Amino acid sequence: TYVVTDNCIRCKYMDCVEVCPVDCFYEGENMLVINPSECIDCGVCEPECPAEAILPDTENGLEKWLELNTKYSAEWPNITVKGDAPADADAMSGIENKLEKFFS
Ligand code: SF4
Ligand code: F3S
Repeated sequence: TYVVTDNCIRCKYMDCVEVCPVDCFYEGENMLVINPSECIDCGVCEPECPAEAILPDTENGLEKWLELNTKYSAEWPNITVKGDAPADADAMSGIENKLEKFFS
C-alpha cells in the first residue's frame, strides 16, 4: 500500500484524490490519509503530490504512518474531489516533524 506522510499536514494540496482509481483517500482537517485495505498499490498518486508526502509503505520507518493511515481512514470521510489547499500551504511545505507540531 501507499501511505500519506508528514509533509501532507497543513499542505493538503489534494491533487492526490483526483487520480486515485479506487477513491481511497479520507479527509481530516489538516491532512488526508489512504485506506491501506482499499489501496491497490497502483502508485499513480505518488508523483501527483506537490509536497511529496505519499510514499510506498515498503520504505523504511513508515510503520507509524501506516498505523495512522489505517486508524484515521476508518474515522474520516471519503474525499474524491479536490478542494482549496490552505492559503499558506506552500509556506508550510518542508517543515520538519509536522505530526508532533500540528496534529492533535
Ligand atoms: Fe489510490 Fe493508487 Fe495511490 Fe493507492 S497508490 S492511494 S490506489 S492512487
Ligand atoms: Fe496531501 Fe499531497 Fe494529497 S499534500 S492532500 S498527499 S496531494
